[in-house]
Order: sequence, then structure tokens, then C-alpha cells
Amino acid sequence: MNEQSLSVRDAILQRRSVKVFNGQPVERDTLMTVLEDAKWAPNHGNREPWRLVVACGRELTELHTVLREFGVAKWKDLSEDDLAKQMKKFVTPGAYAFVVVSEDVRQKERLEDFAAASSYIQNAQLLAWDLGIGACWKTPPFLDAPKFREALGVKKAERIISMLQFGYFDEMPKAKPRKSVEEFVTFFGSK
Ligand SMILES: Cc1cc2nc3c(=O)[nH]c(=O)nc-3n(C[C@H](O)[C@H](O)[C@H](O)COP(=O)(O)O)c2cc1C
Repeated sequence: MNEQSLSVRDAILQRRSVKVFNGQPVERDTLMTVLEDAKWAPNHGNREPWRLVVACGRELTELHTVLREFGVAKWKDLSEDDLAKQMKKFVTPGAYAFVVVSEDVRQKERLEDFAAASSYIQNAQLLAWDLGIGACWKTPPFLDAPKFREALGVKKAERIISMLQFGYFDEMPKAKPRKSVEEFVTFFGSK
């Protein structure tokens, strides 16, 4: 274990979704290590029900072009200046991983696979955080748009469940308060 690694607890408590990146590139090897290590997520039947479409470094330019089209449509009422501000959300992350899951026709397996892929995503976010890289799991509606799916090579029985943005950041995001355990736990038999 890397001596400087956060404890699991610290990583879970300290990690925040990063929504403002500073534009610094994420190194491909670092990203690939994160995505490799994240595969130790629990998954039923060892189905490993995820695949990823990644953009890092040279792939980003083409991805930005595709994202721009969806951004322009989403923010169609904004002035050029405001649109440029919004587009920063797309161009400042240092890397992207789109998480794609096969949609099993069996409901139980489909649920398990979504849950396993979600575990994969959280693993990746925590592993990145441990290396000083922020991440944000995003689900913009265009993930289901035929044109976007086609751009990513997503097949018919697949779904993009996450646009996972990675990047370096200058400001630590603030945590919103969460309910305490007493508020969401009841004990069996107490009704
Ligand atoms: C399934 C899922 C979808 C999310 N989609 C978005 C999104 O579309 N845009 C966004 O800004 N954040 C998105 N988030 C990030 C949440 O806003 C973030 O996790 C939440 O504010 C809690 O903050 P924290 O992750 O720092 O604890 C998503 C998170 C999850 C788990």
C-alpha cells in the first residue's frame, strides 16, 4: 500500500463531487490505474457488468465537439458569454469515462448489474480522490440521446449510466449536511 494513501474511511468522508475543474490534464496512466483498480467492485455472478468509453488527452478534442452540440441545444437561450461559461463544465475536466452497462432482460440481473456498476463508479471516485483527482458522476439527459449514444458506439441493449468527469481542482467543494444515522435507521422489530 502506498504509505500516503488515505484510509478507506477518510476517503469516504472526505471525497466530494468536484464540479469546478482547473483544466489541468489527467495523465492517461494515472487514469488507467484508477479504472483498473476500481474493477474490484462487488458484482454478482462475476459478470463485471461495465464497460467504459474514455476520453483523455487526444480524445478530448473530438468529445468536446460532440458535447458542444448538446450544450448549445441545452443552453439555447443564453448569450454567447453565458454559453461560454456553461461550456466550461464540459471543457475543463481532464478526462472523461462514460460508464456503459448491458441491460439484462431479467429484472433482477439488471438491477444487480446497475448496482455493481455503481459500486465500480464509487470505487473509481474514491481511488481518484486518493490521488488528488476530483470526480463527478453526471447524468445529463443527452446520455440517452440516439446521436450521443451513436457517437460513443453504444449498442442497443446498453445504457450509459454515468458521465464520469475527472480532473484537478483548486477549491475544495463544500459538503452539504447529511442526515444522521438515527434518522435513517430503524431496528428490526421496532416497526
Ligand atoms: C446517480 C448520480 C447522478 C448524478 N448526476 C449529477 C448530474 O447530472 N450533475 C451534477 O452536477 N451532479 C450529479 N451527481 C453528483 C451529485 O450532485 C453529488 O453526489 C451530490 O451533490 C452529493 O455531493 P458529494 O458527492 O460531494 O457528496 C450525481 C450523483 C449520482 C450518484
